[in-house]
Amino acid sequence: MSVEFAGETEFEVTEVFTPTKPARVAFVEREDVNDRLVSALTTPGKQIVVYGHSGMGKTTLLVNKLHQLYEHHITTRCMKGMKFEQLMLDAFDQLEPFYSAETSRVAKQSAGLDLGASYKLIKAKLAVQQSSEIGEKQVRFLPPQLTAQALARLLGAQRACWVIEDFHKIDAGEKESLAQLMKVFMDMSDEYSKLKIIAIGAVDTARQVVDYDPEMRNRISEINVPLMDEQERSKIIEKGEAALNVRFEGSVKRQIVRHSNGLPSVCHHLCLNMCQSAGVTSTMSGETVMLTSAHFERALKNYIAEASDSIKSAFSKALKPKRNEKYKNAELIIEALSSLGENGAARLEIFRKIRDKEAGYQDANLKKVLPKLVLIENGAIIRFDSSTGLYSFSDPIYRAYALANYKKHSSGYGSAFESGFDADDVNKILIRFFNELTGKKVVVKAQVGPATAEVR
Ligand SMILES: Nc1ncnc2c1ncn2[C@@H]1O[C@H](COP(=O)(O)OP(=O)(O)OP(=O)(O)O)[C@@H](O)[C@H]1O
Ligand SMILES: [Mg+2]
Repeated sequence: MSVEFAGETEFEVTEVFTPTKPARVAFVEREDVNDRLVSALTTPGKQIVVYGHSGMGKTTLLVNKLHQLYEHHITTRCMKGMKFEQLMLDAFDQLEPFYSAETSRVAKQSAGLDLGASYKLIKAKLAVQQSSEIGEKQVRFLPPQLTAQALARLLGAQRACWVIEDFHKIDAGEKESLAQLMKVFMDMSDEYSKLKIIAIGAVDTARQVVDYDPEMRNRISEINVPLMDEQERSKIIEKGEAALNVRFEGSVKRQIVRHSNGLPSVCHHLCLNMCQSAGVTSTMSGETVMLTSAHFERALKNYIAEASDSIKSAFSKALKPKRNEKYKNAELIIEALSSLGENGAARLEIFRKIRDKEAGYQDANLKKVLPKLVLIENGAIIRFDSSTGLYSFSDPIYRAYALANYKKHSSGYGSAFESGFDADDVNKILIRFFNELTGKKVVVKAQVGPATAEVR
């Protein structure tokens, strides 16, 4: 918790650098999406789809903007296999605090309708359902009274919007229902100007989140949250410096920004580890504390040690041998991509690189297997960005891991690979630590490929 003292605010380091939760203190405005999001949030009736790869900052952006612009919001998180009815019920449940305490205020607001009474009625219907099912597996059904319109009224009267997180996880068959619900919300915005659904999905296009009719297009705002650029990542560090009264050495700052290549969580993680290795647990009183390259090395080492299990698990998923494969496709792709620069590469570039090694390799094959490496079940170590057409490692640490492995075990791709590698300071440090880790704690087999699946 932050504590006010003598006009200044003291923060815990974990609320400033937040690798695993939305940033508040070190929140950086996203200039490229800000205006569109604010305009969509403040336009009555406009529904919103926020999309972009995992870790780009969708939730953080929204949490901060809603905090600035909305009185209330409720959030429903989707899980695989969830039905649309369950989402409606979840939203209904979350409205309870509004209707148990504020019935009289609500009744006045809603032109002739006693919403408090209608909330209680639906709740009673659900309770009857539950008590008759005691002892059996409980599946709640939507009572006929909990229609799209009823939910819209209950939300709208509270001037609240409804955020649906991870909507891409819902089965395709259920998505039509969200489009219909959005339609109802649009139509009722005349009465309730703040009424809105914001669907978020960690995917590459808005249509993968919600599939709606073309005529709804103008009334739905599709907002892509892209990679954070270098300047934005620098600002995270600067905000952290100001909040904690610390200073990161210039060269270290540049290395953190560079290494966190697009992913703000990596930036937060490294800064947090550095503060912790320097004994900074909250805002420092007195002189500003300097954070140096020695802290950076320790921070990086801890970061890798913490991440190493998940890195290995992701790689073993990606490299799991597939039936009837003529080539070790995943291995060839990972090796080629790791040699092609940190911003990623187009499919054709990857293809050319693979051809250097396997002269008979076909582009048709790459076309088939490359998109599979993006999938979570295959480790999701690679992501595809449709706006640039580039494939890249989904986390910079995956690239470093790939480089470390190939440097150590393969014959390599010759000079381009070697020189790109040596020029990269952060990767050099990473590799040293990886080798240390692999030497002491883990056994990396002589080949990446099927053998790596055994790495523990
Ligand atoms: N604008 C920002 N300023 C500062 N830090 C940010 C910003 N956006 C995101 N972050 C940090 O980046 C990390 C990932 O952000 P967030 O969880 O919002 O991403 P996401 O796109 O919602 O990911 P997912 O799809 O996996 O839910 C968090 O550590 C968060 O603190
Ligand atoms: Mg999120």
